[in-house]
Amino acid sequence: MGEIELPEALVKALREVRSVGVITGAGISAESGIPTYRGRGGIYDDPDEGDRTVEALSAHTLESDPDRTWRALFQIAGAAANARPNAGHLAITAIERKAARFVLLTQNVDGLHRLAGTQNIIDIHGDAFHVICTACGNRNQFNDPRTGGITSLCLNMHECMAANVAPRCPCGGVYRPDVVLFGEMLPEDKLARLYAELLDNPPDLVISVGTSAMFPYIVQPVLVAAAAGKLTIEINPEATEISDFVAFHLRTNAGEALPMIAAAMAGTEEGKG
Ligand code: OAD
Repeated sequence: MGEIELPEALVKALREVRSVGVITGAGISAESGIPTYRGRGGIYDDPDEGDRTVEALSAHTLESDPDRTWRALFQIAGAAANARPNAGHLAITAIERKAARFVLLTQNVDGLHRLAGTQNIIDIHGDAFHVICTACGNRNQFNDPRTGGITSLCLNMHECMAANVAPRCPCGGVYRPDVVLFGEMLPEDKLARLYAELLDNPPDLVISVGTSAMFPYIVQPVLVAAAAGKLTIEINPEATEISDFVAFHLRTNAGEALPMIAAAMAGTEEGKG
């Protein structure tokens, strides 16, 4: 990948930024050792295996064979349970602290932004560590081995993974993961926040990082900001559908570019409030 330098025009523009929206996908967690979905080494890389994963992570499989859904989910949650936030996640937290207004829209279910300390997060696809009972609606969560938070109220992830079957609520009902499965609608409350915080009033700066930008609700905030004359940046070693629409496409890793952006924004502290 090699070292990059931010273009001078970008550094200058970043000093004027007061409000920021960041949109992340699996690529930001690649440097934490979590496989992406698409591309080399991705979860969907082998087409047959990929189709089986999509099938397992669908609403109809959850209903007919929840153990199968959970086996696929345990692989995703298991990879996340061993991962730590990287320089990219931490730089986003630093950017949030510098901005007068900030929102993070993430498609990731790995909880790494939460662990990195970012506060205002719309986890539009949910969180693999959280569960909901399909019978009584009670919410629960796995002990997150990364925070060391072992409480008797939580489900033990290692035990559940060893059993390799759908975990159950004390009421006897099957738990479902609090993630959006294939064939399911996005949660309305999170969509409403997405509209209010990114579309109705676009931030001065919108950064799209580590996403193949496959979904309209991920593409839209970038296009709306660009059309409103706001500063837009894409960070991705590859080109995507939005590459031609952003003001700056930084073809490099999140862990390299985001700390540079955070540093360039350092002059904005006095603009708070
Ligand atoms: P993808 O796996 O589709 O895309 C990952 C993107 O990250 C690719 O465009 C890579 O080029 C880029 N990338 C890889 N390493 C990177 C790095 N170190 N720094 C920056 N970029 C890097 O992941 P998503 O776009 O997140 O949905 O996928 C979207 C959704 O598709 C997921 O949330 C999941 C999946 O089906 C659900 O499970 C509902």
